[in-house]
Amino acid sequence: MLRTIALTAAIALGLGSGAAFAAKVPAGAVTNIDFPFDGIFGSFDKNQLQRGLQVYTEVCAACHGLKYVPIRTLADKGGPELPEDQVRAYAKFYEVFDADLDDFREAKPTDNFPASQLENAPDLSLIAKARAGFSGPYGLGINQFINGIGGAEYVVAILNGYTGKEKEEAGATLYENIAFPGGWIAMAPPLDDDLVEYADGSPTEAKYLAEDTAAFLMWTAEPHLNGRKRVGFLAVIFLSVLASLLYLTNKRIWAPHKGKYSA
Ligand code: HEC
Repeated sequence: MLRTIALTAAIALGLGSGAAFAAKVPAGAVTNIDFPFDGIFGSFDKNQLQRGLQVYTEVCAACHGLKYVPIRTLADKGGPELPEDQVRAYAKFYEVFDADLDDFREAKPTDNFPASQLENAPDLSLIAKARAGFSGPYGLGINQFINGIGGAEYVVAILNGYTGKEKEEAGATLYENIAFPGGWIAMAPPLDDDLVEYADGSPTEAKYLAEDTAAFLMWTAEPHLNGRKRVGFLAVIFLSVLASLLYLTNKRIWAPHKGKYSA
C-alpha cells in the first residue's frame, strides 16, 4: 500500500515536472498531431512502430540510448510485434558490456538497448512522457485526457523545428530550433527527406520520419498503453453498471420507510 502511494506520488511529481517543462516550450511551437494512439480508444499502429524503430536504429541510436527498454519487448503484443526470429537478429546489431565477461559481447533479446553513445545526448526511453508539449496536468485535465500531454508532438516539433541558423558557443555548435526551450539545441538536425528507406513504401519525407520515430518513442515510454486504455474503458463501464445497481438497491431498501410520515 505504502509502495503504491509512494509510486503514485512519484508519478504525480514526474508529471508535474512535465507541466513545468510545457511552460518553457515556446508557445505555438508544438502543434497537435492525430496519432493513432490518441483518444480513449486509440492504440499503437504496429507498422508505424516498426518504421519508427527503423529510424531510431539507423539514425538516432548513433548518439541516443534506450537503456530502460528490453530488446525482447519488440515482440510484445501492442508494440512493434516483431517476430521472435527478427528480434533475435535485431539484438545482434548492438554490443553490450557484460560484467561477467568483463568485456563487450553481442546483445541478446534479454538485454536492454544500449545507453546513449554520446555523453550529452539524453536517453530517449522516457522522453515522450517526460516532456509535455501542451496540456500538462493542470486545470481539469480534460484537454490532457483527450489530446494527451503532447510528448510525442514535442519530439516531432524538435525534429522539425530547425530554422537553419547555427552559432558557436564555448567551442560547441548550437542549432536554432523553435521548439527547444531556450531556442538553441546542441543536436544537429538529424533528419532529412528520404534519409531512411521503408520496406512498406510509406512516405519518407522528414516530417513522416519524425512522426514515426515519435510514435515509437511514445511506445518505449508507455509500452502498455493499449492494455491500459482497454482496462480503463472496461472499468468505466463496470463502475456505471455498479452505480446503477447500487442506486436501485438503495431505492428498494428504503422504499418501505419512504413517505411514512408524509401527509
Ligand atoms: C549526432 C548525434 C545525435 C543524433 C544522430 C540524434 N540526436 Fe537527439 N540529441 C543529441 C544531443 C547532443 C542532444 C542534447 C541537445 C541539448 O541539450 O542541447 C539531443 C537532444 C534530443 C532531444 C531533446 C531532448 C530534450 O531535452 O528535450 C530529442 C527529443 C532528441 N534528441 C531526439 C532525437 C531523435 C528522435 C533522433 C533520431 C531521429 C535524434 N535525436 C538523433 C544528439 C543527437
